[in-house]
Amino acid sequence: LNLFIEAFVIVVAVASPVDENGYSRHDFPGGFVFGAATSAYQVEGAANLDGRSPSIFDTYAKTGITGGGTGDVSCDQYHKYKEDVQLMVDTSLDAYRFSISWSRLIPDGRGPVNPKGLQYYNSLIDELISKGIQPHVTLHHFDLPQVLEDEYGGWTSRRVVKDFASYAEVCFKMFGDRVKYWTTINEANIFSWAGYDLGFLPPMRCSFRFVFNCTRGNSSTEPYLATHFMLLSHAAAVKIYKNKYQKTQMGQIGINLYGLAFLPYTDNSEDVAAMRRAYDFHLGWYLDPLNHGDYPTTMKKNVGSRIPLFTAQESRLIKGSYDFIGLNFYTSMYTKDNPAMLEFEMKDFFTDSAVEMRPSQANITSTYLSRVNGSWPSHEYPVKPWSLQSLLEYIKENYGNPPLFIHENGQRTVRNSSLEDTSRVEFLQGYIGAVLDSVRNGSNTKGYFTWSLLDVFEPVDGYSTAFGLYYVDLDDPELTRYPKLSARWFSNFLKGGIVCH
Ligand code: NOJ
Repeated sequence: LNLFIEAFVIVVAVASPVDENGYSRHDFPGGFVFGAATSAYQVEGAANLDGRSPSIFDTYAKTGITGGGTGDVSCDQYHKYKEDVQLMVDTSLDAYRFSISWSRLIPDGRGPVNPKGLQYYNSLIDELISKGIQPHVTLHHFDLPQVLEDEYGGWTSRRVVKDFASYAEVCFKMFGDRVKYWTTINEANIFSWAGYDLGFLPPMRCSFRFVFNCTRGNSSTEPYLATHFMLLSHAAAVKIYKNKYQKTQMGQIGINLYGLAFLPYTDNSEDVAAMRRAYDFHLGWYLDPLNHGDYPTTMKKNVGSRIPLFTAQESRLIKGSYDFIGLNFYTSMYTKDNPAMLEFEMKDFFTDSAVEMRPSQANITSTYLSRVNGSWPSHEYPVKPWSLQSLLEYIKENYGNPPLFIHENGQRTVRNSSLEDTSRVEFLQGYIGAVLDSVRNGSNTKGYFTWSLLDVFEPVDGYSTAFGLYYVDLDDPELTRYPKLSARWFSNFLKGGIVCH
């Protein structure tokens, strides 16, 4: 089978027209980074070993998600990291984006460092460096230590700021000699929205029934509080890094956001304004404070007193507190002005679920009509890479062209053992091409990571869907990894092969 795939890749490579529509990695600026991503709870396994304590991601999985399963064992990267680093080498990746499990490193959330946790991340980082793979490290990927959630309500409390900053400093101090790219929080915007309003991500807070039987929480205030304290936590960590570590360690630090692209349903000014509001509520929620020191005017006007205020000092701390912005890109939507309806249209995400009014979004005067892009769930929709380009150019034009990394982009397919993922090859080829087009149009994008290296444990879907370049056989006690066609395609591209755009 592998031979067959090899032959297929060679044919694809040779058959790709070497004309103005083809591209190779050499068309990207020098130093542009290509990699693959995972996150701690989704890939490590060993969830109950060597002193690790549970995180809110563990609790979420154990509550019973739609797809079933937990990350207790997952791909067992904790024990198989050397093998996985070798896969990265085989794929010719420049970089690996992974996250540190806060509750593995500091099981009580604050205080003593777990020597076994320290040893694991040191070994993983050393292995990466010794094989020439850059580590890009995220500090929080949906996995606050459960103990802090129980103690003070986690991200909805100001107390998290100090604990996060201390945890971040442990990481800078212990790993910063080798890690040059730090991301504070993964998908901070969707984590607030899906963790504290819709309830389909940890810590599953929401005040009305949606996908889960989830009614604890307060959707009208908690998403705004969580965002507020994530921004302050991020800024506190960045301040420590910049004041104490950056000069000697020569690294960079940023935050990661879920990068939905919005397009107006029609060209009329109301729908264009609806697009602007949608962008404000999703991206501006973070990008405005990070660039201007305050939330977007539309949000302050529509959310009123439910959105917390920054003090002048906090505002100064947050403004400019990043070297880069990380974006995860999966989908895009049309926006249509609809002052009467005022709901976030979720039908396309969960076709079988009843859609109810979302109180915290009740003041958004737009309805997000439908997706225009196929990546979520991509096997059911056509691939539309230009929507990623439109997002990158929106950020360039509205936020002063900041350095960006595409931290995640990938195709969700049904998980199975077929290694012939031709649709993922088409997907990667299209989206990497769109990144190239954006860079040629002046976007300051510095790197691209595909989600994900392996078929990992997925939020919501568990092990029923997959995004990986490598299939992991969960029925095999060895958890053997098998390269898919996409891994071989990516490897060919990364070695300089010309691909069709
Ligand atoms: C984004 C999240 O960061 C990651 O945890 C998730 O697995 C992927 N999207 C795909 O669903």
